[in-house]
Amino acid sequence: MTEPQTPPPAPLPPQQIASLLATAEAVAANAYTPYSHFRVGSAILLADGNIYTGCNVENASYGLTNCAERTAIFKAISERGPGIVLRAVVVTNLNNAVSMPCGACRQVIAEFGDADTWIYFPDADGLRAVPLPELLPFAFQLRHD
Ligand code: THU
Repeated sequence: MTEPQTPPPAPLPPQQIASLLATAEAVAANAYTPYSHFRVGSAILLADGNIYTGCNVENASYGLTNCAERTAIFKAISERGPGIVLRAVVVTNLNNAVSMPCGACRQVIAEFGDADTWIYFPDADGLRAVPLPELLPFAFQLRHD
């Protein structure tokens, strides 16, 4: 007899993905993007079932721009506290463009995610689902005494 295995992380049911995608699309309309005109929306599902949304917010000092994913995650923490766990991060844009989460957002997702966190984003073939360890292998972790 082999030991029972932990089931591999699975993407969400298609209906739930479609619903999160529609939510992300709706919030993208609120994006503040006078510089790039690239409107991004994100809907995140927490392990407790709560859903938060975010859009990108740009700034004349470009580097101060906040991506849609980080807006959603920071909103969730400010409302729910530091113990949130991400189950899914859905990203879309209103520009009909392929768009993966940027490196900074991957690191922030890693801070509040685990091996069961799935990230959904538009690639050339449609909405792609990638588990967090694949999206950001070797994420930075602060370990010190
Ligand atoms: N952006 C996001 O909001 N999320 C991503 O995953 C990629 C990039 C934003 C930042 C900036 O406002 C615009 O897209 C163009 O880079």
